[in-house]
Amino acid sequence: MAFPQSFLDELIARSDIVDVVGSYVQLTRKGSNLFGLCPFHSEKTGSFSVAPDKQIYHCFGCKKGGGVINFIMEEENLSFPDAVRFLAKRAGMEVPEEEGDREASRRRQRLLDLNRDAARFYYQLLQQPEGRAVQDYLDRRQIKKSTAVKFGMGASLDRWDVLLTAMTKKGYTKAELLDAGLVVQNKNGGLYDKFRNRLMLPVVDTRGDVVAFGSRVLDKSEPKYMNSSETPVYSKRRVLYGLNLAKKTKRPNIILCEGNLDIVTLHQAGFDNAVASMGTALTVEQTRLLSRFTKELVLCYDNDNAGKIATERALQILNNSEFSVKVLQLPRRLVEGEYIKQDADDFIKLQGPDAFERLLTGSENGIEFRMAQVAGKYDLANDESRVAYCGEISELLSTLPGAVEREIYALRAAEAAKISPEAMKLEVQRAFKRRMARERKAETRKNLNPALRSQPQERSLRYDNIRSARAEEGLLRLLLMDESLFPQALSLQEEQFSSPLLGRAFFRLWQAKSDGRSVSLSLLSDTLTQEEMNHVTAVCQQPESLQNGAQAMSDYIRIIQTEYNKRSGAAMDPLLAATEKYKNNKGTGGKQ
Ligand code: UTP
Ligand code: MN
Repeated sequence: MAFPQSFLDELIARSDIVDVVGSYVQLTRKGSNLFGLCPFHSEKTGSFSVAPDKQIYHCFGCKKGGGVINFIMEEENLSFPDAVRFLAKRAGMEVPEEEGDREASRRRQRLLDLNRDAARFYYQLLQQPEGRAVQDYLDRRQIKKSTAVKFGMGASLDRWDVLLTAMTKKGYTKAELLDAGLVVQNKNGGLYDKFRNRLMLPVVDTRGDVVAFGSRVLDKSEPKYMNSSETPVYSKRRVLYGLNLAKKTKRPNIILCEGNLDIVTLHQAGFDNAVASMGTALTVEQTRLLSRFTKELVLCYDNDNAGKIATERALQILNNSEFSVKVLQLPRRLVEGEYIKQDADDFIKLQGPDAFERLLTGSENGIEFRMAQVAGKYDLANDESRVAYCGEISELLSTLPGAVEREIYALRAAEAAKISPEAMKLEVQRAFKRRMARERKAETRKNLNPALRSQPQERSLRYDNIRSARAEEGLLRLLLMDESLFPQALSLQEEQFSSPLLGRAFFRLWQAKSDGRSVSLSLLSDTLTQEEMNHVTAVCQQPESLQNGAQAMSDYIRIIQTEYNKRSGAAMDPLLAATEKYKNNKGTGGKQ
């Protein structure tokens, strides 16, 4: 899906960020930037800014940011290629047929064809006598023939090379089979089928392509589930099992589960709105995908501890998103005096679809789930724990933005702890005021100290080496502001950057510069996630002086190199070491 670079350059040049954003947000000029109300979170004072010189937007409130393509991806909920097409239409440009990467897209298409042929092959095996073991397993799990067909299920056999032989006969090369992750290489270079003696579950994306396989053993052996590894056509962060079917549902929401076979059972029971993330935690990419099809999500993870943690993580990701989120909690099952885990599949088999429908209607919203979690930690018959419960619950309720919501849930909490509604409301009000004060204080501190604004919000974006990272940030800003400062060749390598994200961003732009193209943050839209883009934009939003730009540039480079040498333990040039020591002492006023 790669567009020719020259086309992207022209598209970016012809899509001025002020014009594009200006058609969604009313902007007023303040100094060299423009400000308005952020379209991505609700606010009363404008903390959303657009910098025409750098062609970026950035919100000081919700921290979202990026170039013009990101803006459209976020605002219109589009994928990168679709955002490009959207902007091209707006600019009156014709989208070229993807000539630039014809070879890459041809290879992708070959892998997709191979996956489809493999899925057909497994499907046919299931209908034949050799597929009997898998068919018996489906029967044991009460999976009907029509359901198996709908999901394109198949059988892999208890042999080493059935698929390998069949696909080679169809003209696929060994390299293609390896690339698709369908065969594996042994130590001697010999190839064998990756999936053997398993129920095969093709993973189909929303365009209808078979991008990967999930598979399950037929007995109790390990690993229970085996999925395709990442391939050029499969990134597990971007796919949800069952979404190809669930996207057509008439139900008002989408149900998220943990397991592939939960989805199968749910669809069979009439819940054709269920999807699963195949053993990984919900990702930002998956929520972006979901947002094209629904505005309401129901989390239905297993009712064990791992499921609770997964629910909490998903709620965090979905916090501040446009989704309304509910949590469907499956009851635990009491067997011989012990509670055992239950998933959607177990529940439907034992209690039937109607019981599940009732749970679905009655499912709690995110705050109710969290309140129940807090309540579960305290013994509400004990006075001391009731006090502690009230403290924790009022902190939780103070995070709710609406006064009515805060009041309603305060009343519920009061009921649970058997205290007067007035006292509970007062506690929540106080907690809310304290929170507001804390936030205001943090905001002022940030405004006073621009350096603080770039504090990375997400753990994954935390810097390991602050000194080097600050220099990397500076270098990135300089490149965006005035690429002519930089020499033809650079004495730096990507691995020398302490922050992989900054390294990736910088060298992507550096490549553009070397190719004689204009350097713009928009070039990163297809390589960075929105979260990463937010961070990089925040970095580029920091002030950076172009006076003495050349000096600043060489200082930054030197810092990055020195820090890299320290980290890699490389033997330092003794002269360099001596000057470093001298500088450090001078810098801190230290004594010899
Ligand atoms: P579970 O172990 O909870 O299985 O894994 P399940 O769905 O209840 O499986 P059944 O009912 O015994 O068949 C949940 C999901 O996690 C992924 C799979 O996608 C599975 O559906 N998983 C699990 C793996 O990827 N690998 C594993 O080894 C186990
Ligand atoms: Mn299960």
